[in-house]
Amino acid sequence: MAVLTIGILVLLAAFGPASAQVQCNGGDRDALLEFKAAFIDVPSPRVPDADFQTWLPGTNCCSWRGVNCTSTGRVQGLAVQSASGQDPSRGTPPFRNSSYRGVVGASLGRLSELDYLIMTQIRWNAPIPKELGQLSKLREVNFGENNLTGTLPAELGKLLKLEKLEISTNLQPGPIPSSFCRLTRLTTVRLTSTRLTGSIPPCIGRWSRLVGLILSYNSLTGSIPPGLGQTTTLVTLSLTSNQLTGTIPANLGNLPSLESLELESNQLSGAIPPQLSRARSLQFLRLGSNRLSKSIPASLGSLALIRTIDLRENELTGSIPRELAAPSNLYSMDLSANQLTGGLPAAFGQIDAALDFSLNVSHNKLVGPIPQNFGGIFQLDASSNYLSGAFPLSLVSCRDVRLSNNGLSSLPQATSLPQNLNPGPRIFELRLDGNRITGPLPPWLSLLPEIFKLDISRNMITGPVPASVLGLPSLQDLNLSNNKLDGPLPTQSFRGSARFLDLHRNRISGPITSSFLANLGTIIELDFSRNALSGPLPADIGSYLFGINSLNLSYNKLDGKVPASISNLTDLSYLNLAYNKFTGPVPSIPSI
Ligand SMILES: *[C@@H]1O[C@H](CO)[C@@H](O)[C@H](O)[C@H]1NC(C)=O
Ligand SMILES: *[C@@H]1O[C@H](CO)[C@@H](O)[C@H](O)[C@H]1NC(C)=O
Ligand SMILES: *[C@@H]1O[C@H](CO)[C@@H](O)[C@H](O)[C@H]1NC(C)=O
Ligand SMILES: *[C@@H]1O[C@H](CO)[C@@H](O)[C@H](O)[C@H]1NC(C)=O
Ligand SMILES: *[C@@H]1O[C@H](CO)[C@@H](O)[C@H](O)[C@H]1NC(C)=O
Ligand SMILES: *[C@@H]1O[C@H](CO)[C@@H](O)[C@H](O)[C@H]1NC(C)=O
Ligand SMILES: *[C@@H]1O[C@H](CO)[C@@H](O)[C@H](O)[C@H]1NC(C)=O
Repeated sequence: MAVLTIGILVLLAAFGPASAQVQCNGGDRDALLEFKAAFIDVPSPRVPDADFQTWLPGTNCCSWRGVNCTSTGRVQGLAVQSASGQDPSRGTPPFRNSSYRGVVGASLGRLSELDYLIMTQIRWNAPIPKELGQLSKLREVNFGENNLTGTLPAELGKLLKLEKLEISTNLQPGPIPSSFCRLTRLTTVRLTSTRLTGSIPPCIGRWSRLVGLILSYNSLTGSIPPGLGQTTTLVTLSLTSNQLTGTIPANLGNLPSLESLELESNQLSGAIPPQLSRARSLQFLRLGSNRLSKSIPASLGSLALIRTIDLRENELTGSIPRELAAPSNLYSMDLSANQLTGGLPAAFGQIDAALDFSLNVSHNKLVGPIPQNFGGIFQLDASSNYLSGAFPLSLVSCRDVRLSNNGLSSLPQATSLPQNLNPGPRIFELRLDGNRITGPLPPWLSLLPEIFKLDISRNMITGPVPASVLGLPSLQDLNLSNNKLDGPLPTQSFRGSARFLDLHRNRISGPITSSFLANLGTIIELDFSRNALSGPLPADIGSYLFGINSLNLSYNKLDGKVPASISNLTDLSYLNLAYNKFTGPVPSIPSI
């Protein structure tokens, strides 16, 4: 008896007076125990879930973990969130006892005072019981992160008080039941990765209190119901990754509170409605990976709060409206993989550098020069266009610049960086491969202390590889392949942690020296093939390149014996010494 009293006191302390004072209704307790029975795993050594551990016959169910009672002891809330579902070290979460008979959770239909039902990560691997349709007071249902079977039961359409419905978990493919049309009090509907099929019911426009509609990662077909333009309370609309067709309803612009419009990865076509600019609260506009065509409406630039515009992978034509650079909070714009023509608007250079703006206009048909004032952009990807002219030196104050596959003709030959550069860190990645750049590597390249990746391959660069470029303190990745570099290798190479050095297909001559190899302990790939290197390899080569995976020295004029120490390169998986003038056998390498 004393032990029991202490037990009750402990329970009182643990679960607070409000819930512990009331004695739970016997019928409700039986319903909960019946539900729990389905979640006890067999055989037993597996740890049952922490929440369910407190659900014991003969105790007050109002004190059980996750259970909330009314003042009369009826269960009004269930929030069972299994921690073990997330953390395997806390034991195997309970699975449904496969020999359980009847419908898992059917007994929950008897909790007639239930206000909320939250069951996440409890590995519920049975259908949602249609008996839940009897819970006429239910305002919130959340079945996130389970692995339910079956489809959405039409009976949920009887929950006329329902405000929040979240079922982000696998289901069997099936439609949104038309009975849901009656749920006009819904404010949040999150049905993601739920394998929904069929179309979005047009009656959704009657859910006049809707704040969030998230139906992403499903297989919904048909068009976006224009009725959504009447749900004026809507803040978030996400239909990402479905198979929706048709056009974007222009009346979505009528939604004064809309902050996120996410329609990417569908098959939407037609023009982007200029009326979207009337959605004054819009911050995130994501329409990428669709089949949108015609030109980008300049009016989008009047969205004062917009932060992200993603229109990538569409069929948009025309030029980039300079108005798009106007919004003062814009930090990311992706217009890549369209058919855009014309030039890069200089207006983007006026965006506040403090926003770390990133602009992706790659894979379009843009022409003309790169504006001189782009130095405040954080990340610029304008690869695979027809841009021409010289590389503007002001871009060294960007962090990441990708201009691969354009028609750039030169690098300025300045010996110092411009005086008026934006303050702050300097470029760390620069890709200029596949242009038509001629002339030698310019002196200013050696003034970029933070650069770790530099790719100027596939151009027409002449002259030697300067020691000062190869010795840049942060450089890890250097690709100067497919140029017209000549002269000998510098006497020293990387100062930083080298990873890739590709100089293949140039005209570099002279020997590979020990002092050149001395700091290449971290190098992974070295390609000097198709040059004019000569002389023997350093006898101690095996003591320098100890991390190397791939060494390609083919098509040179190297001679002498291949040093025995090369067999000490234990990570080497590719070695090509062909088409040289080596004599004698190649030592065997254990890893090849
Ligand atoms: C119990 O449910 C009521 C009604 O939904 C709610 O106001 C209250 O915060 C809940 N109590 C707990 C401890 O969750
Ligand atoms: C699983 O269900 C069967 C049949 O109802 C029952 O005999 C068995 O005891 C259950 N196992 C557990 C651990 O509850
Ligand atoms: C969910 O259930 C399906 C079918 O029963 C199974 O193939 C899948 O592995 C399960 N997923 C998880 C995360 O348990
Ligand atoms: C720019 O867009 C292209 C095509 O959509 C993509 O492949 C590339 O990774 C993007 N660039 C950056 C820096 O994210
Ligand atoms: C260097 O650039 C060439 C051509 O652009 C490319 O084929 C090669 O893979 C690059 N090398 C490395 C190590 O990335
Ligand atoms: C090594 O170089 C030769 C000549 O440039 C080239 O054909 C071959 O593909 C290269 N091997 C690797 C793995 O890059
Ligand atoms: C390989 O490395 C070991 C240990 O560093 C050294 O003793 C040995 O001489 C090396 N072998 C060759 C052939 O250089």
